[in-house]
Parts: sequence; C-alpha cells; structure tokens
Amino acid sequence: MNEETADRPIIVFDSGIGGLTVLREARVLMPDRRFVYIADDAGFPYGEWEEGALCSRIVDMFAGVIAEHNPEIAIIACNTASTLVLDDLRKAYPAVPFVGTVPAIKPAAERTSSGFVSVLATPGTVKRAYTRDLIQSFATKCHVRLVGSQNLAAMAEAHIRGDHIDDEAIRTEIAPCFYEKDGDRTDIVVLACTHYPFLANVFRRLAPWPVDWLDPAEAIARRALSLLKPNGTGAEPEHGDDIAIFTSGNPDFSTRRLMQGFGLATV
Ligand code: DGL
Repeated sequence: MNEETADRPIIVFDSGIGGLTVLREARVLMPDRRFVYIADDAGFPYGEWEEGALCSRIVDMFAGVIAEHNPEIAIIACNTASTLVLDDLRKAYPAVPFVGTVPAIKPAAERTSSGFVSVLATPGTVKRAYTRDLIQSFATKCHVRLVGSQNLAAMAEAHIRGDHIDDEAIRTEIAPCFYEKDGDRTDIVVLACTHYPFLANVFRRLAPWPVDWLDPAEAIARRALSLLKPNGTGAEPEHGDDIAIFTSGNPDFSTRRLMQGFGLATV
C-alpha cells in the first residue's frame, strides 16, 4: 500500500446494522483495506426524522469522524441518509470521497420485463426529492410503486440478532410491493434500505409470487473500489483490526456478538 493511503481506513456508515450488508461486499472487493464501521444507533431509526435535523446531525457527526479516522473514503451505507445529505457532506468535506447508497431505480428500470417495479424503503427515503428525481430521470416508462415501511428496519435488526419475527407482520409490510394489472405484475422489488437484505430470504418465502429482490450492495462496493488509490505493492494484506463504533456508546450484548461474528472489534 502506498505511503499516502497506508492504514487510512474506509468508513462504512449507517444508522444501525444495515450497513453490514454493504461492508461484507466491500471487504470481498477490498481485502487489503481496513474498515471502520460506524452505526448511529443513538439516532436509529432514521426513517421518521425531520429532514433538516437529520441532515445537520450527520454533517456535524462527520466532522469528528474525519478528524479521528482520516478515512481514504467514506461509504454512506444508508439510503435514508444518502438521499438527504450526500451533497452537504461533499460540500462540507471536499477532501473526502463519499460513496452513497441510493435506491437502485435505474438498474431496476433496465431489468424489468413487466414494467412494474416496487421500491421498498424507509418512510424518509420514499418522500425524498432525490428518490422522485431518480424515477423522473430513469424510470418514466415504468410503473414505480414507492413503499415506505415504518417497521422493517427494526424487524431486520431484531431478526439478525436472533429474535423471532412474526411472518404475518413481515407479510403485511411487503404486501403493498405486489401489484397486478391486466395480466402483468411486479417483477422487481428494489431493496432500498440496507437493512432489508438481511430479510431477503424471509421476503422470498413470504412473497405472493417470485420477484427479483434487487440489492445494490455489490455495485456500491465496486463504486468504492473504483475511487481508491491503487495499492501498488501487490503485498499480502497487512493492516490493523476492523472496528465498529456505536454512537450510543453502549451496544447491547447481542449487537457486540453480531459485530464479533462480522470480525469487527466493538470499541
Ligand atoms: N439502513 C438505512 C437505509 O438504508 C435506514 C434504517 C433506518 O434508520 O430506518 O435506509
């Protein structure tokens, strides 16, 4: 690794544990990099936050994150945050490349056969101007249904920690994604919250018919990789441990265990 990038970590940021779905892809593509996972669990869930307050919170928080970790790049592994604060973060910290996670509406529009696409997200993401603009720019020929769920991010957190989640409750949350008209029906559901891929197998089992559940994590990791300065040495990966930081300062036992399972030391 060259001098300049030596041990500068990649930040992966989310409101909770959803960003781990992006981290796991990022690690596959960038095994020689050190990762710092930051969960703003003190602010979780982001879905219902008022936009101005959430924007200030995240931009202010990054002043400390950048001062402390001097990241090579920062991945905002959260649709609810990215669709709101990416521009402000780039303006406030122009030296840091930010990679966002925004609803995969463009690839869904390119891939759908029926023209019926649903976007499953938090209430915050579905009401963003950014999301509407994506539809206007890339999916005017499709019927795009925005489905905002108040409960799924918390359900995904509980599920991944090993708690029981009622099938009926999940079926209710995903039901509005399924639309049928004149013999055509939804064939793609965009997972537009990084928490949801943790529930993808449950969604598959409970769906009224098979659809493509589109998870953009790998594409985000590829984008991040494309922004990295090349590691010229070809040497074996050699870096400090990956760590997880929780803004509450006090993640519970099951969260710590989960982080350990992901190879992250909770500090
Ligand atoms: N994981 C976040 C996202 O991608 C949101 C979870 C939440 O805070 O509600 O939108």
